[in-house]
Amino acid sequence: MAKLKAGVLISGRGSNLLALLEACAATDFPAEIALVVSNRAEAGGLAHAARFGVPTKVVPHRDFADRESFDRAVSTALEAAGVELVCLAGFMRIFSPWFPARWANRIINIHPSLLPSFKGLHVQQQAIDAGVRVSGATVHLVTNDLDGGPIVAQAAVPVHPSDSVATLTARILEAEHALYPLVLRWFGERRVRIAQTNRVIIDGIAPDGALLWRP
Ligand code: GRF
Repeated sequence: MAKLKAGVLISGRGSNLLALLEACAATDFPAEIALVVSNRAEAGGLAHAARFGVPTKVVPHRDFADRESFDRAVSTALEAAGVELVCLAGFMRIFSPWFPARWANRIINIHPSLLPSFKGLHVQQQAIDAGVRVSGATVHLVTNDLDGGPIVAQAAVPVHPSDSVATLTARILEAEHALYPLVLRWFGERRVRIAQTNRVIIDGIAPDGALLWRP
């Protein structure tokens, strides 16, 4: 089966992009990254892509009059690269309704909490303030509902009483770097199905097999 062509959208550091690039470097991995798009020329992740020989494109959002024009330019670049699945990895732009409609069920995002808890920004601070004992990372489909699309997979990590935002962020990030390549693998193996109930099913995996618990 041909490798799934993924496009990765970033705005910054790109540690999740790096995890995906490393996974895709294995010859038997069922996906490849066809293009990395950043809305910021100074995004650190662009260097990771270049190091792996993956094409990059900078589409500065400020060059466009409105969100939809920017979204269409990003989409055109993804289409030109033959992208089948869009992976958001620290992409800090909110889409116009046009983009999720154009790529319906073909955009995923990674978010550093166990959704639906703690949407938006300052997520680890929200988790610490709430006093939760468990947090983690979620990969979900992207819809117009910010951080609200159907959940594909989650990884849980403990929250310790002594945690700072920095220590919790680092623990969650480590889980993200394991979870995102796993989900990309599932998409590459064409095992991800959206059930009628808006539930995401991974063929061949029992529901609780999708949870990575790392106490
Ligand atoms: C990650 O925590 C991700 O969950 C969130 O933004 C951060 C991006 O980090 N959406 P990086 O750029 O992948 O290092």
